[in-house]
Amino acid sequence: MPHRLIVALALCLVLAPVANGRGPVDTQAPIIDFGSRFLPVVARQGMVVGPERLASEIGLGILARGGNAVDAAVATGFALAVTYPRAGNLAGGGFMLVHLAEGNRQTLIDYRETAPRSADRDLFLNEAGELDNQRVYFSHQAAGVPGTVAGLVLAQTRYGSLPLAEVMAPAIALAENGLEVSFALNLEIAARAERLALNPEARKLFLTPAGAAPEVGTTWRQPELAWTLRQIAEHGHDGFYAGEVAARLVAEMKAGNGLITAEDLAGYRALEREPVRGSFQGVEVVSTPPPSSGGVHIIQMLNILEGYDLAAMGHNSAAYIHHLAEAMKLAYADRSEYLADPDFQPVPVARLVDKDYAARQRGLIDSTRATPSTEIAPGRVLLDESRDTTHYSVADRFGNVVSNTYTLNFSFGSHIAVPGTGMLLNNEMADFAANPGQPNAFGLVESETNKIEGGKRPLSSMSPTMLFRDGKPWLATGSPGGSLIITAVLQTVLNATAFDMNIASAAAEARVHHQWQPDKLVVEQGISPDTLRLLEGMGHTVDLAPRTLGRTQSIMLERGYLLGATDTRRPGGHVASY
Ligand code: GLY
Repeated sequence: MPHRLIVALALCLVLAPVANGRGPVDTQAPIIDFGSRFLPVVARQGMVVGPERLASEIGLGILARGGNAVDAAVATGFALAVTYPRAGNLAGGGFMLVHLAEGNRQTLIDYRETAPRSADRDLFLNEAGELDNQRVYFSHQAAGVPGTVAGLVLAQTRYGSLPLAEVMAPAIALAENGLEVSFALNLEIAARAERLALNPEARKLFLTPAGAAPEVGTTWRQPELAWTLRQIAEHGHDGFYAGEVAARLVAEMKAGNGLITAEDLAGYRALEREPVRGSFQGVEVVSTPPPSSGGVHIIQMLNILEGYDLAAMGHNSAAYIHHLAEAMKLAYADRSEYLADPDFQPVPVARLVDKDYAARQRGLIDSTRATPSTEIAPGRVLLDESRDTTHYSVADRFGNVVSNTYTLNFSFGSHIAVPGTGMLLNNEMADFAANPGQPNAFGLVESETNKIEGGKRPLSSMSPTMLFRDGKPWLATGSPGGSLIITAVLQTVLNATAFDMNIASAAAEARVHHQWQPDKLVVEQGISPDTLRLLEGMGHTVDLAPRTLGRTQSIMLERGYLLGATDTRRPGGHVASY
């Protein structure tokens, strides 16, 4: 936490002077600067910061009952499948970064979906060799083999402390008994009602008989989802990947010309991987490795930017945003060329996160002029990714921390539900380069390295990330947003480090985004018009973002306190703490 921030609130808090995994409380040191426009939630024992209130509270209930951060993260993940159907899921995938107090180490659980075995490079091309976007986004073939249940069960089995059934019980009860429809839930379903109505099963699950989103304040029950959750609670991994749940999923695949078979499900495994590591201004950065591109490029951009005095430039000044954008272009150009599933394609991670490489890249940046993307690298461009994923962060009183991002890809995935299970199918196959070497429907050309291959994980941008100071966890964060994830997390990290902001300010300040192609600097509201004019004068094509950029859920750990911030960019987020 920023040093100038530590001013007043501790005087208002009644502090229990107990030691915990984060070290002793400093009863003398105030923890909140009331001079900041944005303040975090402060707590001592445990915290869950997520996109939806009921799920955060379920996670916190598990912490309060003696569970650890992994127990709470697994409980929250299953609860979001009930309370936050746009991105919470059972049939999607994601990445969980875990800091374990015991052994002071980190591990990354990769539960990204895989392509079904029968999928191949040209799966989504029609007879004329053109991309069929309807199939890429909204068909049964868009679904990758789900990873979420394998990932959550693996995390629970290896690192949780409570029985799986106990951790899942609150989510099951909520699905069975129903939840009160919030403003945010109503809004999220209403925004997708038209497409959800196209699939009879999704229509039945999410819409009223009149085809509308359930009214705010009414009770919404999901008995079929409760049944699926019970199969998992009773049988663990096999409760989803074998038996009746798997049979129903495979039957739906057959009915809808999908590709996932019983063998695909039986063969799916979540993997533990070594996180990718770097440093910025003496702070250790630990993040998500391939098959996500997130951690590699966050570290690459931090390395490039470490060579400048960013604080002297001033936060969100034209000079700062210019250097940020130039670093983003270089990183996203590399992303299109080098990043893919490392089990199928060698990924030069060490080179990409190397500080000497960053120094050479820094040499390509003109401090006064935007380099056109065409001069940075020819041809290849970024995948057009979804902006609908979700992130949550958890910290417990034992010193464990979890940062988890998971997704169905689009909001409500493919909008296709599996009869009798209450769950939606992901459309993660769209994260592959569905048409390598040729422009897709958006005029983008995609890389061969990320082509579709049976069993391969599609390239992701999900970036659960942690920072460590003096070997201790200091910040856990992450975001939804497809390609926007990487730059949202980058700016949160830079705000907290180079600009010494508290975590609420670090989350709230206006963000920018550049992904090399298209050659556009996208900015949120809140950057001054004169700054934008200066940037245009340097050669940037500036676009106001049609929506906000990312939605972080973060915890900062400082002096024995937990400081939480849910991003204010979308409704419904919640910091649950005690
Ligand atoms: N589906 C979004 C991502 O994995 O980056």
